[in-house]
Amino acid sequence: MKIFETHAHLDHPQFASDRDAVIKSCSQQGIDFIINIGCDKQTTLDSIALAEKYEFVYASAGYHPHDAKEFDLDFLKKQAAHPKIIAIGEIGLDYYRYLSPKAIQQDVFRKQLQLAVELKKPVVVHNREANEDCLQILREFKPEKVVYHCFSGDVFYAREVLMEGWFISFTGNITYKNSNLAEVIRIIPFDRYFVETDCPYLAPHPLRGKRNDPRNLRYIIEKIAEIKGISPKLAAEQSYRNALKFFLNK
Ligand code: NI
Repeated sequence: MKIFETHAHLDHPQFASDRDAVIKSCSQQGIDFIINIGCDKQTTLDSIALAEKYEFVYASAGYHPHDAKEFDLDFLKKQAAHPKIIAIGEIGLDYYRYLSPKAIQQDVFRKQLQLAVELKKPVVVHNREANEDCLQILREFKPEKVVYHCFSGDVFYAREVLMEGWFISFTGNITYKNSNLAEVIRIIPFDRYFVETDCPYLAPHPLRGKRNDPRNLRYIIEKIAEIKGISPKLAAEQSYRNALKFFLNK
């Protein structure tokens, strides 16, 4: 089974004691690509360091809405020029935790979208309880490639996202008992989705609550396969091919 991890935070302190062992074990278990996601200045630098150390690890650069207050455009431009930075993200809006004021979140989201358009880089979107504003701001800039990371909307919202030509990526939350994402998975075209762990967060059932890592992607792949009535191998391959084209132009 060929697996592409599209969203990991392996720089997280929870991996302090065994980070290298986990990453090496991933490559031995069929995970051919990992994108480590930047959320602020430090995590962007740490993601680049991991990408420099491991050939199969790539990185993104960006300011998460929680960290919008510390936004630094010059820093972001400089990091985005690194050959292993293959996306701008995760960026977006979070009206659930409101760790940055709404106006600042929107302003920083717009500035980063502008940069992504200029650099022709894919955009990894974080959206929490900001559906309408998120769509509207994305439509202002019309980046060529957009993925809604950790999609948690309903089927109507999914259709709006898909109609724009954008992508949806699924985490371990699709395996939870209270998940209402089955309908979204059922309707999503085979060429418009990815899988991701968002590790160390969101460990899939039956590991919920534990530290997550990319080796658990198989639980997410199996769930998608079950809902779509295809083999896990095919589900993994679809996501893999989509991610390769989207992030690496291959
Ligand atoms: Ni994340």
